[in-house]
Amino acid sequence: MKRNPIEVFGEWADLDKDFGMEKNHKNSVQHMLDFVLKDATPFSFIDAGCGNGWVLKEVVKTSNCQKAIGIDGSFKMIQKAKKLHPEFEYFCADLNEWNPEQKVDIVHSMEVFYYLEDPRALIQRIFDYWLKTAGRLIIGLDFYLENQVSHDWPESCGIDTMKLFSENEWSQFFTDAGFHSVKTWRFGKENNWEGTLIVTGLK
Ligand SMILES: C[S@@+](CC[C@H](N)C(=O)[O-])C[C@H]1O[C@@H](n2cnc3c(N)ncnc32)[C@H](O)[C@@H]1O
Repeated sequence: MKRNPIEVFGEWADLDKDFGMEKNHKNSVQHMLDFVLKDATPFSFIDAGCGNGWVLKEVVKTSNCQKAIGIDGSFKMIQKAKKLHPEFEYFCADLNEWNPEQKVDIVHSMEVFYYLEDPRALIQRIFDYWLKTAGRLIIGLDFYLENQVSHDWPESCGIDTMKLFSENEWSQFFTDAGFHSVKTWRFGKENNWEGTLIVTGLK
């Protein structure tokens, strides 16, 4: 029987599988951060679906980040994030509903958006309510149509909400929400693995 992602990732936090995600996602995330931060003047940052908060630690390491916020729906992930990286601000909330009190310059997310019932609605809400003008949204996805080796993940992970879209569809979601300068590319391609699909755009 498949379960919802919040329940499954809460269990993963208990089993320390969040450290495995950190290891597996690290190169793609570093690549995304290098892209985003190369010209960044002092900025504020949200990691949407932050897990144990490890990305926030990477962001502040080498940049002029003024505020770093993590949000995740799993209470256990947020509990762990607060313990491992207490210097950041966290919210335990459903991305389908949450909006920040103040808009930020950069919204980042790794391996989260396809778990949502309606990723388009979240992209639109980020455009409307999360980002300042000229702010950037960047997301990384390993589960997508062209990455065929990922297609059995809903079964192997036992998660019920996973949505399979193509690179062009993700790009169109950004454009439809109002983003400009939308770009997509794949990072870390190797043999049958198509790499992490990166999608980004500016408000
Ligand atoms: C694959 S993990 C990725 C975690 C982290 N971004 C990383 O790269 O290590 C997906 C995360 O998204 C969170 N998540 C999934 N659906 C969510 C939702 N509707 N609202 C908030 N968080 C959600 C899960 O709790 C989980 O921590």
